[in-house]
Amino acid sequence: MNETEKNRDQHAILEMNKRARDILISNDLGGYSVPNKDVYPFQWNWDSAFVALGFAEFDIDRAWKEIETLFDAQWADGFVPQIIFWQENDGYFPGPDVWQAGKNPATSGITQPPVAASMVRQIWQKDKSKKNQAIVERLFPKIMAWHRWFDKYRDPLRKGLVVATHPWETGRDNAPEWDQPSAAVDISAIGPYERRDTLHLDKKMRPHKQDYDRYVAMIEYGRAQSWDHKIIANEGPFRTVDVGMTMMLIRANKDMLALAEEFGCQKEAVEIKSWIDRAAEGIDYLWNEKIGAFCSRDLISDRSSGIISSATFLCFYADVGSDDQKSQCIKHLKRISLASKFLMPSISPDNPRFDAMRYWRGPVWAVVNYMISQGCMEVGLKDLSQRIKIDTANLIRQSGFYEAFNPQTGEGTGGEDFSWTAAMWLHWAGK
Ligand code: DGY
Repeated sequence: MNETEKNRDQHAILEMNKRARDILISNDLGGYSVPNKDVYPFQWNWDSAFVALGFAEFDIDRAWKEIETLFDAQWADGFVPQIIFWQENDGYFPGPDVWQAGKNPATSGITQPPVAASMVRQIWQKDKSKKNQAIVERLFPKIMAWHRWFDKYRDPLRKGLVVATHPWETGRDNAPEWDQPSAAVDISAIGPYERRDTLHLDKKMRPHKQDYDRYVAMIEYGRAQSWDHKIIANEGPFRTVDVGMTMMLIRANKDMLALAEEFGCQKEAVEIKSWIDRAAEGIDYLWNEKIGAFCSRDLISDRSSGIISSATFLCFYADVGSDDQKSQCIKHLKRISLASKFLMPSISPDNPRFDAMRYWRGPVWAVVNYMISQGCMEVGLKDLSQRIKIDTANLIRQSGFYEAFNPQTGEGTGGEDFSWTAAMWLHWAGK
């Protein structure tokens, strides 16, 4: 690049930074952010954790507020819901009347990937002021309670893994890994419902009707159990060990351990370490020998999905697996990096279920890229880490702050002006 081109590029980046900040500010509904004003008009759990990283780039108090607001909706048993319905909005289905979780504020009855601890540690590392220390000290026991909830309710095998009881808990709603386990869900008795997502977005970007019927059936089941998480986790119609949630929880526990040690919480450190040690051994349950990768595995049928998804590559972020397992995963990552113009497709383009524009069946997601890239960097895969970061930046520069992107053409898919994509630009890809 010559000097003029460099200046032009610098100017374009500053413009993008401003646009990203504006998106976060405009999606701020007062102490919490919506992922996107039309498609998702409430507070979402893992979205908020990532969004806090973006706010931390220009307003650290607002970043903490995002996470504190999320934990304001924590249930007494430590559970942190997937959605918090702070205010009414009929642009989304299923709303609080469908969930009937019986809480104030109204929430859904399922959870989402536990990434909050990792984001809290990132923000804390940015500014270790006394004021921020007090906030971390306030959040620490709340996050601990949430991780204990996972340990108590979602690890029936006692292997340090995470069982999801609804595809929405995984955050990767219609990932092909859930096709087989959710096919067994009985939809014969579901009541009538009206989707709202397809009023805002082209239906080719969204899950199929068959998926929604099953989502609704699983909600109706949970509601019939009055959201008793013990019953749902032991007897529910969908119980699948998610490779993504598992890897994110292991990483979050490692971040919690670092915080516990820094803050002198010895008892908690011992407890967290026991979870991490259990997972280090237990992770083999997800290893698919034939495929040579970590894959989600259905607890009910005891079948491995045999599907390599972007979540597989969070093994580097969690830093688990033997050297041999890691090197087999690296081979898959390199293979996909040759097959895909932009990394990281949510499943490999050569998989027959790949669908380039349809939500979690093909598109690239900035937050997943961030975690994979960070993991790759930490385990010494610098070139792959850099490639994922550059691809993410190019996707956003080419198409804008979309929810996700077509890995072959770079076209945006899902909602526009998306909070977590803006946050990932500010915190990582745009730097
Ligand atoms: C949706 O409604 O599509 C959300 O992803 C559920 O969390």
